[in-house]
Parts: sequence; structure tokens; C-alpha cells
Amino acid sequence: MSNIRAAITGIHAYAPEYVLSNAELEKMVDTNDEWIVSRTGIKERRILKDPALAASDLGVEAVKGLLEKTGTSPEEIEVVICATVTPDMMFPDTANLIAFKTGMKNAFTFDLSAACSGFLFALNTGAKYIESGTYKKVLIVGADKMSAIVDYTDRSTCILFGDGAGAVLLEPSKDGETGIMDAVLKSDGVGAVNLYQRAGGSLNPATHATVDAKEHYITQNGRPVFKAAVSGMAGVVKEVMKRNNLSADDVAWVTPHQANLRIIESVASMADFPMDKVMVNIHKYGNTTAATIPLCLWEWENQLKKGDNVILTAFGGGYTWGAILVKWAY
Ligand code: UT7
Repeated sequence: MSNIRAAITGIHAYAPEYVLSNAELEKMVDTNDEWIVSRTGIKERRILKDPALAASDLGVEAVKGLLEKTGTSPEEIEVVICATVTPDMMFPDTANLIAFKTGMKNAFTFDLSAACSGFLFALNTGAKYIESGTYKKVLIVGADKMSAIVDYTDRSTCILFGDGAGAVLLEPSKDGETGIMDAVLKSDGVGAVNLYQRAGGSLNPATHATVDAKEHYITQNGRPVFKAAVSGMAGVVKEVMKRNNLSADDVAWVTPHQANLRIIESVASMADFPMDKVMVNIHKYGNTTAATIPLCLWEWENQLKKGDNVILTAFGGGYTWGAILVKWAY
């Protein structure tokens, strides 16, 4: 095994300007602020209003900021992986579009589909490129324009999701001691019936009938997903801690996928973390799928210190879930 470790050496994120508040949703569907806040913790979410813009444009904003901040020129990037469930199109890949729009002329690109766990799966994949010694600058993007696949007449889902993107730069760890330390990633197709977008793929290609039946929107059976998310994330967080001989006191931050505040609180309690160590910004952005974790890391960047143990954890459609232990590198 190579002794090269991959480290996150920069982070940036972007959420579009338009704020869709609970008050506005009250005018669109039969819901109310009290229900949404008490059941989910969400107060508002950001929406990309311009119909000419897509997930790649969200990703471009995050990537541009990241390159600028880290003093990296676009030509230096060798690999771009974009985690998304809302690609601009089925193909070409959204990572390719992001690379084209930002001048990353020397990178090969691909998308990775693992729903709300996409950012973690992509981060682990990108880390392997660095650890192999083959590549030195890998960009991981999580970008989702969830408003494109949300049915704004369905109160059970439209209150949950928002649009956003985040990006991290992976490079070989300078000290070899900080960076991506360990990953526990899992999938179980038993969850496919509870969270899906029925039409638009090869099983149900888009037709007038699929559109009339609103099958190009998200369908979610919330309760089983909720239960699986709590036990799934708590399980992998505990597993990654055990494998690395860490107690809750040794961990500075937990960065959970932001799908529901009650899920986050349950996971924290099951893994013995006080909520003041848990990053939460769901009230501002809702569930931005592949963007939730980088949106958190970006907002907490100034509070993160070199050597901090940070556990990232996510759960999503598939089911897919996982936890990654990062020793913060800067
Ligand atoms: O990120 C990917 C993974 N996804 C998740 O992790 C989401 C997991 N699931 C959840 O977060 C929760 O299940 C939801 C927030 C989606 C729903 O919360 P819940 O506490 O499980 O509510 P429920 O679906 O059991 O619905 C309870 C009641 C129902 O009414 P009845 O049947 O009890 O009369 C719903 O019709 O709440 C009703 N309801 C609403 N009421 C007001 C559902 N949506 C709304 C709404 N406003 N927006």
C-alpha cells in the first residue's frame, strides 16, 4: 500500500440567491411553518430561479471560488468528479461541463451517482487517485439543482429540498499525517422502493404519460427512510470511530448530511456527541443532496483547526450511506 495520504486543501461552496421561505411554501401547498420547522428544522432553502442555469452552473460557482482561494490555475487540475442526482443532462457528464466552463483543460472528468451520499463516495474515490500516486490535484464537486426534480404541488417533498453546490481540492498530504484517514461506505438496494425518480431513465423513458403522471419528480416514502437514515449513519459513525480507536472526546466535529434536524439529533445522541460538536445549517438550505456536506465544511472552515478529527456522514437514496474520518489538514 502506498504511504501517500490524500488531504482536503481547500473548500468552497455556493447557494443561489433566491430564498424560498416556509411562508412562501404555505401559499403553494397545504403546509405551515410550524409543521416544517418542528418536523424537519428547515426554515428556508435556496432556489436557482433562472431556467437557463443548471447543476453545472452551481458547481462552476463553487469551483471558481475554490480555485481562486487556493491559488490553483484551472489547467493544474487533473481529475474532476461531480456527485449529483440532477445532472444537466443524462450525458455528457456534469463534471465535464464544469471543467469546460472553468477552463480545466487537462482534467478527465466523470459524474458519480450515489444520491445524498454522493459527495462522500466521490471524496473516497478521489482520495484513491491521490493515494495511488498517479494524480496530485483532484477536484470533488457536489452539485444539485433539486428544484428541477421537485414537485411543488407535493407537500411531503417540496418543503425538504434546496439547490446548492460545494467543491473541495484533494492533494497529497504535506505532513502525511493529516488528510482522509478512513472510510466506511455502504449500499443496500432494499431502499430503492422508498426514494426514487421513476421516469427519465432506461426503465421508464420520458413520455407524455410519464410526465402526466409526474414520474420525473422525486417520490419518497419518508418514514422508512427516516428510520434507516438514523440507524445507518449512527452505525457507520460508531464503526469508523471504533476502527480508529476514537471516543467522542477525540472528535472535534461531526458533519452530517442535512436531510432532517431530527435525524441529525438522533444520530448525535446514538453516537454520544453533544450537538455543539455537530455542524447544522439545514435551517438555511434544506436538503441540497450532494452539496450538504461541503456547504457545512465551507461555513465552518474558519473554526476548523489543523489536526482536528472530523467525521463526515451521509445517508441517501439507494440506500447508500457512509462515514469518512478526516484529520483536518490546514
Ligand atoms: O436525504 C435523503 C434521505 N431522506 C431523508 O432522510 C428524509 C427522511 N424522512 C423525513 O425526514 C421525514 O419522514 C419527513 C420530513 C419526510 C416527513 O416527516 P414525518 O414525521 O415522517 O411525517 P409523515 O410523513 O409520517 O407525515 C405525518 C403527517 C401526515 O398526515 P396524517 O397522515 O398523519 O394525517 C402527512 O400527510 O404530516 C402530514 N404532512 C404534512 N403536513 C403539513 C406531510 N407533509 C406535510 C407538510 N405540511 N409539508
